[in-house]
Amino acid sequence: MVPVWLLTVTVAATLLLTTPTESQPEANFKCATESATCRSLTDYTSTNTTTLNEIATLFGVKHFLDLLGANNLPTNTTNTYKVIPNQVIKVPFPCKCFNGTGKSNNLPRYKIQPGDTLSHIAAIRFAGLMKYQQIQTANIKKIPDANNITAGDTILIPLPCSCDKVGGSSVMHYAHLTENGTNIDIIAQKYGTTSQTLLSINGIEDPNKLEAGQVLDVPLPVCNSNVRNTSVDFPLLVPNGTYFYTANDCLKCKCDSAGSSNNSNSMLQCEESGLKPINHWSVCPSAKCSASVLIGNTTSTDSCSRTFCDYVGYTSRNISVVLVTQNTCAVAPSGSGGSDSGASRSILNGSVWIKLLILIHFLLFFVYHL
Ligand SMILES: *[C@@H]1O[C@H](CO)[C@@H](O)[C@H](O)[C@H]1NC(C)=O
Ligand SMILES: *[C@@H]1O[C@H](CO)[C@@H](O)[C@H](O)[C@H]1NC(C)=O
Ligand SMILES: *[C@@H]1O[C@H](CO)[C@@H](O)[C@H](O)[C@H]1NC(C)=O
Ligand SMILES: *[C@@H]1O[C@H](CO)[C@@H](O)[C@H](O)[C@H]1NC(C)=O
Ligand SMILES: *[C@@H]1O[C@H](CO)[C@@H](O)[C@H](O)[C@H]1NC(C)=O
Ligand SMILES: *[C@@H]1O[C@H](CO)[C@@H](O)[C@H](O)[C@H]1NC(C)=O
Ligand SMILES: *[C@@H]1O[C@H](CO)[C@@H](O)[C@H](O)[C@H]1NC(C)=O
Ligand SMILES: *[C@@H]1O[C@H](CO)[C@@H](O)[C@H](O)[C@H]1NC(C)=O
Ligand SMILES: *[C@@H]1O[C@H](CO)[C@@H](O)[C@H](O)[C@H]1NC(C)=O
Ligand SMILES: *[C@@H]1O[C@H](CO)[C@@H](O)[C@H](O)[C@H]1NC(C)=O
Repeated sequence: MVPVWLLTVTVAATLLLTTPTESQPEANFKCATESATCRSLTDYTSTNTTTLNEIATLFGVKHFLDLLGANNLPTNTTNTYKVIPNQVIKVPFPCKCFNGTGKSNNLPRYKIQPGDTLSHIAAIRFAGLMKYQQIQTANIKKIPDANNITAGDTILIPLPCSCDKVGGSSVMHYAHLTENGTNIDIIAQKYGTTSQTLLSINGIEDPNKLEAGQVLDVPLPVCNSNVRNTSVDFPLLVPNGTYFYTANDCLKCKCDSAGSSNNSNSMLQCEESGLKPINHWSVCPSAKCSASVLIGNTTSTDSCSRTFCDYVGYTSRNISVVLVTQNTCAVAPSGSGGSDSGASRSILNGSVWIKLLILIHFLLFFVYHL
């Protein structure tokens, strides 16, 4: 029989190896559907005072309203809006899956400043969203030597992202920078997912190893929509509590309560924006189900259903809408939208038990040697 103290020493040794002193792992979000593209989101924070305009420029956000919508800021917010040190801004960007992982699709591009090092660019300018080695890999022809970069060169910055569904549901993947004093349960609750889902998609075995500044793949619940796969904006992912301008700015779609058990609340709501169109349209094409029923209008409601004029997509020529009848009585939310965190609690309890066991073994070990 193996003596208890030997077991104890072995367990204690493995525990020491896994205490949170090692450097954080590089973020590689799983992205299974080769070449799939979608919109994704990342946190950004700076130790300096900055503006939304500077952030938009740094990340190559072309459409300023996208940045406002992702942060649910009022649409009249100006681009000189001041961002204070350590304030967290969510930045939207296009994502593409390649070889099992997701990276920002040819964005952002960063011009190397005099005095920059690759690790400064990764850790400070881009808030530690990636490791300097990942920047080097993304620019391997331009940067054969990570210690020798040239001021004035423009390099591609690979932001982590994914287009995968989670638990069968569409989600928007969000690269979240973990804050001091948080934990998996708090993050899961705040963003409408479960601890179990976070641990599983991030490949985290021990939730206690989470460190401040670590980049987590957080799948945000999005509103359901009837947008077709032939539409330019498919898949139209709009996370809970945000809005998005689509169809060349002619429509404003908002998501009030994704993941809610009320089918009516969790539906994406699109209406005419009243803005001038961007790109090649001179005026917004009409978006009506009939002469008097505009996009977003409800034609009838009863106790358990609602019929309304819903957005189903746009092309270079027009905006399409159809009358949709929807069940508004509570239905069980599908996939990861729910708020069940029972499973995760038992995992945390598990790790507490392990610690207790180890403690007992240590005591036994000392008693044995007395
Ligand atoms: C933005 O619009 C709101 C009303 O919707 C108004 O109260 C606010 O003052 C406006 N802010 C700016 C900066 O114009
Ligand atoms: C794809 O990923 C595998 C490991 O996950 C790696 O060995 C291979 O080199 C990668 N291929 C390309 C083209 O990057
Ligand atoms: C903040 O400003 C200092 C001094 O100008 C600079 O060295 C540093 O790189 C800036 N940090 C960021 C995140 O831009
Ligand atoms: C750095 O790279 C440049 C070319 O990009 C080269 O001329 C120079 O010798 C390199 N410096 C060192 C120290 O390797
Ligand atoms: C988090 O804590 C570390 C040290 O534990 C500190 O250096 C850092 O400034 C803190 N960050 C914030 C945002 O409070
Ligand atoms: C969606 O956001 C609303 C407030 O914006 C919040 O009350 C609700 O809990 C959120 N839903 C989920 C599933 O996180
Ligand atoms: C698009 O959706 C239709 C059903 O609405 C489906 O039959 C078709 O396979 C889909 N196409 C793609 C490329 O996903
Ligand atoms: C239809 O929608 C428009 C704009 O979205 C709104 O101004 C109008 O009041 C709505 N009409 C009805 C009958 O709800
Ligand atoms: C919109 O344009 C597409 C082709 O670009 C066409 O197939 C479709 O029938 C049009 N829809 C409407 C409502 O005009
Ligand atoms: C669902 O939400 C709609 C709109 O907010 C509301 O009219 C309806 O009563 C709600 N239904 C239930 C069952 O809560």
